[in-house]
Amino acid sequence: MNSYSIGILDSGLGGLSIAKEIKKLMSNHSIVYFGDSANVPYSTKSEVEVYRLSKKAIEFLLAKRAKIIVIACNTITVVAIDRLRKNFPKTTIVGTVPVIKTAVSITKSGKIGIFSTKKTAESIYQKQLIKKFAKGYSVLNLGSNEIVPFIESSNIKLKNVLKKQLKPFKEHGVDVLALGCTHFPLIKNHIEKIMGSKVSVIDSGAAVARQVRRILEGSNTLSKSSAEDIFYTSGDISQMEKFVKQLKLSGDVKKISD
Ligand code: DGL
Repeated sequence: MNSYSIGILDSGLGGLSIAKEIKKLMSNHSIVYFGDSANVPYSTKSEVEVYRLSKKAIEFLLAKRAKIIVIACNTITVVAIDRLRKNFPKTTIVGTVPVIKTAVSITKSGKIGIFSTKKTAESIYQKQLIKKFAKGYSVLNLGSNEIVPFIESSNIKLKNVLKKQLKPFKEHGVDVLALGCTHFPLIKNHIEKIMGSKVSVIDSGAAVARQVRRILEGSNTLSKSSAEDIFYTSGDISQMEKFVKQLKLSGDVKKISD
């Protein structure tokens, strides 16, 4: 691993959707990923607990020589990024939030949906983003805590639950659906199928990757030589291996004890 690894963390497998975009844009740059699948979902936990777990995850990644931290989780971002930045003042921390500005720029009907976890949907952080970037638009901001555990366990009932959760967006007539949870791009094909071809389903992966590249270019630390990626999980290693492979990422997959 080179000395400028990008450290990426999530409550579980969802952040791999961000890792994928980062590698697409910076294939030579090594990443070190930590997915806390032993503690997923974070959305049902208290804010104190989300902060405690994510602080521990950042400490782990810094010990693995990550030089920039990407919080590839909307829930951690809206709940804890301000506190985490204060706690790690020397580390650049990039967060993930739904791309509301993009949603607003492409909607024709003026009706947009934001689909995230409950904690994200109900957060002041997200409500402020909506106020700032989607003033005058009809925004349906809904969260579900059911989807993430289904993705983590590859539960076959996922599609039925998803149909139920997406129904309000269809009824509202949104023509853009912004995904506000990094797990959801992993099932984007199902979401697009349910929403129909007239609805654009967008996620934050490419925007986060561009932001990381801007920072690394700005500090002259963008790696030119290829390096190994490592994916750590506190949960089921075979699930992490499965998703790493599915996303055509490559590197070592390792299990760490909780
Ligand atoms: N991937 C996380 C997010 O973007 C899921 C949070 C959870 O574990 O509840 O919000």
